[in-house]
Formats: sequence, C-alpha cells, structure tokens
Amino acid sequence: MQVVWYTAASIDGRIADAGDSLAFLDTIGNVAGGEDEWRTFIESVDAILLGAGTQRWLVREGYALPHRGLPIWLLTHDTELVAAAAAADPAGTPVHHAQGDVARVLDGIAVAGHRRTWIGGGGDVAAQALAADRVDEVILTIAPTVLGAGPSIFDASDLPLRWFRLAECRPHGGDAARLRWVRDRRAATG
Ligand SMILES: NC(=O)c1ccc[n+]([C@@H]2O[C@H](COP(=O)([O-])OP(=O)(O)OC[C@H]3O[C@@H](n4cnc5c(N)ncnc54)[C@H](OP(=O)(O)O)[C@@H]3O)[C@@H](O)[C@H]2O)c1
Repeated sequence: MQVVWYTAASIDGRIADAGDSLAFLDTIGNVAGGEDEWRTFIESVDAILLGAGTQRWLVREGYALPHRGLPIWLLTHDTELVAAAAAADPAGTPVHHAQGDVARVLDGIAVAGHRRTWIGGGGDVAAQALAADRVDEVILTIAPTVLGAGPSIFDASDLPLRWFRLAECRPHGGDAARLRWVRDRRAATG
C-alpha cells in the first residue's frame, strides 16, 4: 500500500501557525486548475490516516471531517473525538479508532484492502510514519510566507535520514510552489 503526505507549508516548513491557524494559506491565492488538481488527488486515495490535532482543527473550523466518503483511521487517545467524527456524516463515512504504532495501523489499513492512504495531517502523524519508513510520497505546496513557529511538516526532533527523489517541481498560483518527492529506498543513505 502506498502512503502519501499531501500538505501545504510555509517557506520555513510550518503547516499551521503557533495559534493553529491556517490563514497563511491565503498567500497562495487562486490557482488556475486548483480544484481539478485536488479532485485528481482525492480520487487517487482510498483511505485517510488522520491525527487528533488535525481532526480538532477541522471540527473547530466547522468541517467535521476531512473528506466525506473516504474511510478514516483517526489516531487518538480521545474516544469522544472518534465518536463525534463517526456521527458527523449521516451517510456514514467510516471512522476507525487507531492508536499506538503507526506502522501497525498502516498494515491494518492495507489488510482492509486499501491501496493508497493519504496522511491527512498533521506533522506529528507524518513524522511517525516517516520514522517507520512508511511515507512513499510527499506532495507539498510551499506558500510564499514565513511563520517562525507552529507544527512542522514532519513534527519531531529526531528523525532518521530518508532520501526522496524529486518527481515534480513547478510554480503554483502566483508565488507558491508545488513539489512532489517519491521515496527512494535503494539509496545508500536512509
Ligand atoms: N497545512 C496543511 O495542509 C495542514 C494539513 C494538516 C494539518 N494541518 C494543521 O496541523 C495541525 C495539527 O498537526 P499536529 O502535528 O499538531 O497534530 P496531528 O498530527 O494532527 O495530531 C497529533 C495528535 O494525534 C494523536 N496521536 C498522534 N499519534 C498517535 C498515536 N500513535 N496513537 C494515538 N494517538 C496519536 C495525539 O493526540 P491525543 O493524545 O489527544 O489523542 C497527538 O497529539 C493543525 O493546526 C492542523 O490544522 C495543516
């Protein structure tokens, strides 16, 4: 099963500011074809691995779920958060409670028959997946601004060296950039 971390960050690699706001994403502005790109991406995944921090942000902002219809594995110790997420969609988006070893959680998603999982956030979960060497692809929009503080793309202080090959690099909107890297496990280091 493929695991992709698709996200957006500031120039200094923050995915939210110190107050958990994503207002910095406004600096990306309108992107021609952005909706189509998003649709193509979301149609390429069939499961979501999500951290409690990101889910709480979604709830606070009134979204309730990252994407209706796609099954979610919600990493948390908070059973009430899981129950609320499971009740959020009357059409019944599946929400699974996950905790502990992220590699084991990802194995469970694969056993359930899924082929490509989106790490829907946040940096804490992405860092655990990277440490377990389960991040196969990183799709990153870099917004043209600097935050100075806040959770980072891979939010951990001690991560093993991992080598990714650049697969795409292009302007995105006016002043942002879109990059895509694919994990290279043949590389000698990491
Ligand atoms: N820029 C973007 O595109 C983007 C994308 C996604 C998220 N974000 C932002 O990033 C922020 C959240 O990121 P984050 O790194 O702070 O948090 P996160 O990764 O979303 O969630 C971390 C939390 O998930 C739970 N958790 C993580 N691993 C676990 C495990 N193995 N077992 C059980 N529970 C586990 C813990 O919460 P509990 O102990 O409370 O359960 C932990 O504090 C939010 O502000 C969000 O808006 C931005």
